[in-house]
Amino acid sequence: MQDLKSKYGNKALVTGGSSGIGKAFAIELAKQGIAPILVARSKDKLAALAQDIWTEYQVKAQVFSVDLSDEEATLNFIKEIDKQEIGMFIHSAGMENNGSFIKISPEKELSMIKLNITSTYLLTNHFAKKMSAAKKGGILLVSSMAGMMAMPYFSNYSATKAYVHQLGLSLNTELKANNVDISVLAPGLTETNMTADNGVDWSKVPMSSMKPSEAAQIALNNIGKKGTIIPGMMNKMMVMMAKRLFSIKSFGVMNGMLMKKAIKSEKL
Ligand SMILES: NC(=O)c1ccc[n+]([C@@H]2O[C@H](COP(=O)([O-])OP(=O)(O)OC[C@H]3O[C@@H](n4cnc5c(N)ncnc54)[C@H](OP(=O)(O)O)[C@@H]3O)[C@@H](O)[C@H]2O)c1
Repeated sequence: MQDLKSKYGNKALVTGGSSGIGKAFAIELAKQGIAPILVARSKDKLAALAQDIWTEYQVKAQVFSVDLSDEEATLNFIKEIDKQEIGMFIHSAGMENNGSFIKISPEKELSMIKLNITSTYLLTNHFAKKMSAAKKGGILLVSSMAGMMAMPYFSNYSATKAYVHQLGLSLNTELKANNVDISVLAPGLTETNMTADNGVDWSKVPMSSMKPSEAAQIALNNIGKKGTIIPGMMNKMMVMMAKRLFSIKSFGVMNGMLMKKAIKSEKL
């Protein structure tokens, strides 16, 4: 594992820290003695994790309960932490909707756009400015393999994750001049709450799943080294196939057929 404390300092902001991949990031950072600032809505889960991190690693985590799909709440939170010296920003908070595009409620889709896109813009813009001024810092945005290919029945989710991916990759070049690292993690199927009970029978999809700790470790080891980090050999092969062996359109058609079989029929 690369020495992130020497590279980026002893404090990191982790959104989505209450569960899944974000929680795994917080634990991996604490193992290196980096104090995580945890952000999500679930105050109790965040407080419990902060306690566990203190007990296990004697690292003091801060917790902030913020609804990042609310633009005003996100801007207020940014003001609240503005004075702190934060060397790493990891944006893992996200949500997904699946099912027929014409059936999913506009409220749910817009809420996802606000969380997956607007909060990504606001927080990344804040940290890009602060870190550029300090001429030091590391940013990791969590996108998805779904942001790198067409995903029928996850259409709006896939589009939000494409935003995250393109923003991160573009800034990867742009911020280099300011000595700021930015990488994008594009996980495949990962065993978290998001995939546990979302109306999709993942056993019908030919994808291997991964533990969140494994995805977090791979990401932290590659931040600043790679633009896009795809964790796991199977996931890398799928992306390679989507790009090289099939046309983007025909891979989308195949994804559509697979998802149609796996998603609960009433959602289609
Ligand atoms: N699991 C997968 O297979 C997979 C694959 C590719 C990409 N990803 C991406 O990985 C990231 C993490 O997801 P996960 O799999 O770890 O799922 P998860 O366990 O459901 O974690 C999602 C995190 O986002 C937080 N969150 C959700 N809505 C929020 C809101 N409005 N404001 C603030 N925080 C909010 C949740 O906390 P609260 O509910 O407490 O707010 C939770 O901490 C997401 O960006 C997801 O798109 C996941």
